[in-house]
Amino acid sequence: SHVASLQQPGKPSVFSSDDEYADLDWDNLGFSIKPADYMYTMKCSKHENFKQGQLSRYANIELSPSAAGVYEGTKAYRTEDGRILLFRPDLNASRMKIGAERMCMPSPSVDQFVDAVKQIALANKRWVPPPGKGTLYIRPLLIGSGPVLGLGPAPEYTFLAYASPVGNYFKEGSAPLNLYIEEEFVRAAPGGAGGVKAMSNYAPVSEFSPTLVEKLVVVVISSTPEFHQESGKLKLSHGLRFLRILYVFTRYLCLQVLKALIRAKSRGFSDVLYLDSVNRKNVEEVSSCNIFVVKGNVISTPATNGTILEGITRRSVIEIARDYGYQVEERVIPVDELINADQVFCTGTAVVVAPVGSITYQNKRVEFKTGSRSVYQELYSTLVGIQTGVIEDKKGWTVEV
Ligand code: COI
Repeated sequence: SHVASLQQPGKPSVFSSDDEYADLDWDNLGFSIKPADYMYTMKCSKHENFKQGQLSRYANIELSPSAAGVYEGTKAYRTEDGRILLFRPDLNASRMKIGAERMCMPSPSVDQFVDAVKQIALANKRWVPPPGKGTLYIRPLLIGSGPVLGLGPAPEYTFLAYASPVGNYFKEGSAPLNLYIEEEFVRAAPGGAGGVKAMSNYAPVSEFSPTLVEKLVVVVISSTPEFHQESGKLKLSHGLRFLRILYVFTRYLCLQVLKALIRAKSRGFSDVLYLDSVNRKNVEEVSSCNIFVVKGNVISTPATNGTILEGITRRSVIEIARDYGYQVEERVIPVDELINADQVFCTGTAVVVAPVGSITYQNKRVEFKTGSRSVYQELYSTLVGIQTGVIEDKKGWTVEV
């Protein structure tokens, strides 16, 4: 059908169709995507609010490769003698496969995946940091890139991989982390997709979640009309007056609580540790990494039961710890046990192996032993030694590109 041009003379922002109806079989609409002529786009950066958007023809959009998907994270390491090593990329490949199956997406074969990661590392060789300075973080990504309106598999998928040189994940560098135990919000529920590296597991946990009070304020605001019209006068009814008082009170509380959280963050919390969604008493994982608890010769970490990401660093550290003679247990870890641990540390591709210096739970801060003679240090040195070619790789974990 013919649609009037976007810029009509004299009517610059009015969009209209000359035809009364689009050319469609109106009796058989169903729920497949039949894009209408125009879409609306409005952008804003994280420091501003949305302002004026604009209409444009329905069309594919340009998307930053770093924007979306089911993703992976792996690294390329430069050795002292100038070789480039990958660390267990086949495990990333199989994890993407499992994740893709859970999300009903097709995935590249293990060979295709590893080949892509090798190509990315080679093509970007000059971006791999010098030994000791950092690593090249490679992010393979799978997105449903084709159009779909209902709930169902997308008609087209895109696998892509990009890379970025990185140093320490946390701004505190290699200093011990200060974790904050979140008691209201959870990361994942049994039966959900917490064990899969879906972007939806990371977006909600990347900042402090809103508090209950903040949510209450939203409910009150959205159910409180400002005024009640009665016999020509604007007047508040008793019910509305009550709501308004409640609103002012909750807003005050909200500001106090938010202030406390923001203050807490600026006081140096590194990340949030989540508890299980059913009992709210067992340790799950940190927003960005898995967690381990040390007591004597026993190292424990939450068992992967579908709500916890099966970290490749987690798995490697378990194996290294067993080689050193530690007893490693994968099981349920009550928060009380964590609080009473000798040492605590975190693992992840981005995080590597990081010591935890303190955990704050129910307004109480508990401190842990860290430092050069702690368990994490032993595991960290061995892992990074293998990854960077300093320690001989007897396990066949590294792949030279
Ligand atoms: C990784 O460790 O590779 C991750 O994807 C975690 C993310 C918070 C950067």
